[in-house]
Amino acid sequence: MSRSRTPESRMEETPVKIVVIGGTGLIGSKLVAKLREQKHEAIAASPNTGVNTVTGEGLAEALQGASVVVDVSNSPSWEDAAVLTFFETSTRNLLQYEAAAGVGHHVALSVVGTDRLSESGYFRGKIAQEKLIRESSVPYSIVRATQFFEFLKGLADISMDGGKVHLAPVLFQPMSAEDVATGVGRVATGAPVNGVVEIAGPEPFRLNELVQRRLASLHDTREVVADPNALYSGAKISERTLLPEKDARLGETSFEVWLTQAGAQVQSAPAQGTGAEAQRKAS
Ligand SMILES: NC(=O)c1ccc[n+]([C@@H]2O[C@H](COP(=O)([O-])OP(=O)(O)OC[C@H]3O[C@@H](n4cnc5c(N)ncnc54)[C@H](OP(=O)(O)O)[C@@H]3O)[C@@H](O)[C@H]2O)c1
Repeated sequence: MSRSRTPESRMEETPVKIVVIGGTGLIGSKLVAKLREQKHEAIAASPNTGVNTVTGEGLAEALQGASVVVDVSNSPSWEDAAVLTFFETSTRNLLQYEAAAGVGHHVALSVVGTDRLSESGYFRGKIAQEKLIRESSVPYSIVRATQFFEFLKGLADISMDGGKVHLAPVLFQPMSAEDVATGVGRVATGAPVNGVVEIAGPEPFRLNELVQRRLASLHDTREVVADPNALYSGAKISERTLLPEKDARLGETSFEVWLTQAGAQVQSAPAQGTGAEAQRKAS
């Protein structure tokens, strides 16, 4: 049976130059490895490799001849104003250099629920990043992922109040960093959607319950309190704020399987938002 070939499937097979901004980070390093396995020329671009999207250092050289730029960078500081400045300056510079270099696809990693979390300083930064991308002339895809399993311990750390972890008992559908990299890689090697693609884990959990399970797996004895007033990265959340839409692409790795993998044994991913902010309570 013959099947019609989409632009997406054609591009997956043709090696191209793909610059990964934040290519030394948790998601970026996995993404670079995956793209190289597919024979693409994947460049890990970050301050550690001489490319800085805030100052513009090394950016023009890195983007020369690139077909795709994937932005999986993160702000080094999570203080509200610093996050906003980082995402605005970095994204503006990137899009400007991409337009000049003739890059045909800008892919950015964002977070499921970003548009519902404007009370959070961190998410105001992500909202600003998404807005600049939508308004730019460069064809784009915004990939919104749910929380990484690697982030669960960090979430406990920023949710401490009176010696206990306070989290709202709401639903979320986290995923492994490996599956995030796979999902972003698929979008990066496809045609721009000029919109949002959501990716998520295979099953929903209660936020407080899964963080408690993660702490138990680390023999961390901290108690997690189900606190309906607890803020998430400074924002009030309700039952479905963190859940993806029905058409989200789901990762394969379950939490149980992830716990048996190497990624679960090493240091957790840093959290989004500041501790002080996340500890603030809704009145
Ligand atoms: N945590 C979650 O659960 C979650 C969920 C959904 C989406 N996300 C999103 O995922 C993205 C990546 O997160 P991550 O945990 O993989 O990040 P990460 O491990 O903290 O890595 C951050 C990367 O950004 C780079 N970077 C920092 N400043 C830069 C600059 N001025 N120019 C260029 N690169 C710069 C760093 O480079 P150096 O190594 O050189 O410093 C590093 O490679 C973030 O945008 C976040 O919003 C996170």
